[in-house]
Amino acid sequence: MHVQYGRWYEAIARRRSRRNYKPDPLETGPVQALENTCHQFRPFEGARAVLVRQPADRVFHGLVGGYGKIKGAPVFIAFIGDAANPNVNEQVGYTGEGIILEATALGLATCWVGGMFNEAVVGSLVGLNTGEKVLAVTPVGYPAPKITFEDKLMAGFGRNYRRKPLSELVSGTPKESWPEWVAESLAAARLSPSAVNRQPWRFHVEQGALAVSVDGKDTYKISKRLDCGIAMLHIHVTALKYGVHGTWEFLAHPGVARFNSSAKTDDPGQ
Ligand SMILES: Cc1cc2nc3c(=O)[nH]c(=O)nc-3n(C[C@H](O)[C@H](O)[C@H](O)COP(=O)(O)O)c2cc1C
Repeated sequence: MHVQYGRWYEAIARRRSRRNYKPDPLETGPVQALENTCHQFRPFEGARAVLVRQPADRVFHGLVGGYGKIKGAPVFIAFIGDAANPNVNEQVGYTGEGIILEATALGLATCWVGGMFNEAVVGSLVGLNTGEKVLAVTPVGYPAPKITFEDKLMAGFGRNYRRKPLSELVSGTPKESWPEWVAESLAAARLSPSAVNRQPWRFHVEQGALAVSVDGKDTYKISKRLDCGIAMLHIHVTALKYGVHGTWEFLAHPGVARFNSSAKTDDPGQ
C-alpha cells in the first residue's frame, strides 16, 4: 500500500492524542479497514503493526494502570520493529503514523504510547518473531466525550497543542525561496505528535530536498528517532498532496533521513 496522501493529509490537522475511551465495541467496518491498513502499509521490511482485538487496559496494567492514564479502549495496535535494524525507530515511527492517520480518517481516536506499557503482555498477544521488539502501542476507540483530568495533565493543560515556531526548527534555504511543497510539508511536520511533546525534529531545506535530523539526547527511554519517523510521514504525505514525489535516504546521526524530490506532476496519483 502506498502513502494514502488524500485521506491522511486531512487527518494531520484533526489528530489529537486521546486517553479516555468509550468502552463500546467498534463498528466492524472501521476496525476491519484499520486492520487491513496494518497488514498492507509496510513501507519498510523491518517495521510492522498488528491490531489486537482485545481491551487495551490490560496492556497498561502493572506499569501505569494504577495511574489510570489510558482507559477504556476496546482494541489497540502494537508497533513492532526488527531490533537489529539501525533505522528501526524512524521506520516504525513512519509506518505507525500512517496507521494513526488512517484511524483518524476512520473517525477513531488514538494516542502513541512509547514508554509506559507492558511489553511482555503486548509481545505475548502479538506473537513476536526472533529479534523483534515492540517500540510503541496505541489504544484505538471512540473518544469519551469529556476530556479527562489525565488528558489535560498529559497535555500540560493545553500546552500539548503548542508547537515550536518553524524559525526554531528549520535551517538551510531561506523561507522566501521555499517552493510550496516545502512550506506546506514543514507546516505539517510541525504538527507531528512527539513523546511528551518534546518536538525533537529539526529540518534542513536544500535544493529539491528536505532533511530531518534529531536534536539532543533521548529522554524518557523513548528514541527521538521514533518522533522523527512520524515527522517524515507528515512530510511525505504533504509532498505528495502538493504533487511532489520523492524517496528517502537514511543519514548518519544526528541526521535521520533526507527526502529527495524526484518529480513534480500535476496529477500526484501518477
Ligand atoms: C513516540 C511517542 C510516545 C508517546 N508516549 C506517550 C505515553 O507514554 N503516554 C501518553 O499519555 N502520551 C504519550 N504520547 C503522546 C504525546 O504526549 C502527545 O503526542 C503530545 O503531547 C502532543 O499532543 P497531541 O498528540 O495531542 O498533538 C507519545 C507520543 C509519541 C509520538
